[in-house]
Parts: sequence; C-alpha cells; structure tokens
Amino acid sequence: MKFPAFDLGQLEIRPLDDALGAEVLGLDLSQPLTPYELERIHQAHLDHHVLVFRDMRITPAQQVAFSRRFGPLQIHVLKDFQLAGQPEVLVVSNIKEGGKPIGLGDAGHFWHSDLSYKDKPSLGSMLHAQELPSEGGDTLFANQHTAYEALPQELKKLIAPLAAEHTYLAKYEELRERSPWRPKLTQVQLDEVQPVVHPVVRTHPETGRKALFVSEHFTTRVVGLPEDESRAVLDELFERSVRSEHVMRHQWAPHDMVFWDNRSVMHLAAGTPEHLRRKLYRTTIEGDTPF
Ligand code: SIN
Repeated sequence: MKFPAFDLGQLEIRPLDDALGAEVLGLDLSQPLTPYELERIHQAHLDHHVLVFRDMRITPAQQVAFSRRFGPLQIHVLKDFQLAGQPEVLVVSNIKEGGKPIGLGDAGHFWHSDLSYKDKPSLGSMLHAQELPSEGGDTLFANQHTAYEALPQELKKLIAPLAAEHTYLAKYEELRERSPWRPKLTQVQLDEVQPVVHPVVRTHPETGRKALFVSEHFTTRVVGLPEDESRAVLDELFERSVRSEHVMRHQWAPHDMVFWDNRSVMHLAAGTPEHLRRKLYRTTIEGDTPF
C-alpha cells in the first residue's frame, strides 16, 4: 500500500533490546491519527506485541477513543473500580481514600492474559500511568510465541489437541484473603464469568503464529485429563511460559502508555511497596474466540 508523503510525519518504531517490545516515537495520542499512523501502530503491535508510548498527556476519554480504534471495549466485571463517568476505564491502583480502595490494587498479581476467562478474551490492553511509585511498580510481559516455539517436540505433540478451562474465580478467594477489600461477587457478576474452555495452544488470528494460552491466574484444568496429569501439564507449561528469555520488564515513567497484545503475551504486576502510591488507567479491547 502507498501512502501520500504528507502523511508520514515523524513516526518511528524502535524495538527494545528485550525478548519483545518496541517504543513508538514521534506520535501524540491526544491528536487524531492518520490512517498511515494507525496502520503502522497496528503492524508494530503484531510484530513486537508490547508497544510503549512515552509521555502521553492524554485524558481518559482520549485513551478510550484511541483504544476503540482497535475494536469494541470490554467492561470489567468489578464495576466498583470503574473510573467515574468512564465505565470502559478500569482503575488499577493501590491507593485508598477514606479507607476505601480507589482501584483494583492487586490486578496482575498472577501471570495472565487479560479476560482469558471470557468466550472472547481480550485482543489487547492499554495501561496509562497516572501516578507512579518512586520504586517498584514494574510490569513484566512474557512472549507466549517464543515460549511455545521453545518447547520440546514431545511436549508440543502432547499439548497440540488439548483444551483447558479458564475461570475468573480460579484465584478469587485466595486474592480476597490477601486483599479483603475485594468485594464478594453478586449472582449477576457470577453469571458474567462462567468458566470457558480454550485451546492450550492458540493461533494468532492475524499473524497465524502459535502461542501458549494457559495462565497461573485463570487456567484451572486441562479438559479430559485426570487431575494429577492435568496439574503436571499445567505446572510445566506455567514454568516454561515465563522463563527469563521470554520476558521483558517495563519500568514505568510518567505518562507512559503501554499497549500489549493479549493473544501473544502474558503479563504480571511485579509489585509495589505498600506505602507508595501507584495508579494507572486500563482499557481492554475485545478479541476473537481463540482457535
Ligand atoms: C493488569 O494486570 O492489568 C495490571 C498490571 C499492572 O498493574 O502492572
């Protein structure tokens, strides 16, 4: 495809030295994007899986508008942590005001791919930094394509036909014990998060590349295997999926916006010292049913 010269601007995609990820330079997300810019971002997202946009002075409404360019947005089941007036924005924060948490402070405590417990898990998510701690608070991303490609042939063969159950409830009670402010789910919320089954190895719908699609947070069992075999397969895959060679660490800088592909990576919040404040806004874009 040819683009007119006046459209090209300063946009540069600079790959990071890690297992994945790239910085997007020369773009202001508070301004409307040209079709050329949008297509470059889309392609970079497929190529690098995690995109970092530095120093983005954008409003929540602008984050929502940018996210919508990639698909319909998903609303998190924990409505308590929606941003006021902007239900598509989930507040991820350890801050308490008047003794009450303003956000989901322990989001990302276990490795996961966002909303893998839905029939249509998330295509991608964006996190925009609002308030950052002076230490800690990093986010880790693990490349599930390279994790799959590095598996021994025997293991690849074993898992090729397998499917696994994902449920939002897998670790919910454990998280509630650690974070008692997590609400007890209502029947309406429970109905929203019925368990689903997805292939253990999914094929990226746009690139055709295979990726592991099981996580410590949401995957409970391999369908059709006895409990002990299912546990053994999942434990082995969990361990292999987050080996250091597949992982990049994002150290947040003020106003960073990070946009990742949930079909290609898992992520983890590495932790923030309790006395330090951290707040980010998350939007989540709906994807396809995995195959
Ligand atoms: C998340 O899992 O979406 C939050 C990750 C983070 O807080 O670093």
